[in-house]
Amino acid sequence: MRVRTNRGREDLRAIWMDGAVVTVIDQRELPRKFKTVDIKTCAEMAEAISDMTVRGAPTIGAAAAYGMALAWKAGEDLDKAAKAIKATRPTAHDLFYAVDLMLSKRGDDLVKAAGAYADEIVSKCKAIGEHGAPLIKGGHRILTHCNAGALATVDFGTALAPMRLAHRAGRKFFVYVDETRPRLQGAKLTAWELLNEGIDHAIIADNAAGHYMSRGEVDLAIVGADRIASNGDFANKIGTYEKAVLAKENGVPFYVAAPVSTFDFTLTSGSGIVIEDRSQDEVLLVNGRRVSPEHSKALNPAFDVTPARYVTGFITEKGMFKPGEFSSLRKVG
Ligand code: MRU
Repeated sequence: MRVRTNRGREDLRAIWMDGAVVTVIDQRELPRKFKTVDIKTCAEMAEAISDMTVRGAPTIGAAAAYGMALAWKAGEDLDKAAKAIKATRPTAHDLFYAVDLMLSKRGDDLVKAAGAYADEIVSKCKAIGEHGAPLIKGGHRILTHCNAGALATVDFGTALAPMRLAHRAGRKFFVYVDETRPRLQGAKLTAWELLNEGIDHAIIADNAAGHYMSRGEVDLAIVGADRIASNGDFANKIGTYEKAVLAKENGVPFYVAAPVSTFDFTLTSGSGIVIEDRSQDEVLLVNGRRVSPEHSKALNPAFDVTPARYVTGFITEKGMFKPGEFSSLRKVG
């Protein structure tokens, strides 16, 4: 991704490994501060995933693979390492997929395997961009939720990849960026990525999407996914479900962009997806200060499940698919 740092303009990934160290862009600090964090052990990687220094399903997958590589390099018990990483965040399928892939390669050089895994994610996201970019016409107004950009996917993005490629092809369009309470991944991270790429956009309050859709001012919606069940029900950042319902109500095509590693074919429907509950403080505190009455509590599900009937199409590295058309995807990784 194109990033402006204090060293000037750079092309960076969200995560990379050099020698014995994995470096990640600290996603908790953006856009206020561009900072990277060096991670030297599997335990540190597990912590970075839990506290969301690294986040977004495919990036979490790469982080998990690199965590396994760090454990392998240190001669640690790989089963214990796998258990620790799998205990960090329950919803994103890529994390479990990546850990199991690394376990299946025990005996090989896991540093190389993790690097290859991260490279593959990048090429898959580029392919998602190529398959999705034709949906975006000059003058389109696109809605997106949370951050499914390069930060969330090592590079390019899933939902943002078609926008990146359409923009690089010279098409001019506009993006509504849902702020995405409570952690504000849209307002902080997606806006930062679009700004770095030079794509016209505006941040909207989460509850403003219906207003623009009802006025006919949204042409399509593209979001990412954390886990997709066999029938096409999918989990994504909390609030995605209501955007999908609003899109259907207002005749706005609703696309989900994700690599095949996000599909969980062990689940027949979305009801089996485990939804992560996060700390009440993410809701009760704004910029570190409590804004709610001292004795009020909060509920904080990090994801919701959108039924497949609201999805116009799934944009994957293998092309575009409708719910119910996934049989060919079961065979690929
Ligand atoms: O809790 P997060 O920030 O990890 O959640 C991220 C999302 O919900 C993204 O939309 C999803 O992971 C898709 S990322 C390409």
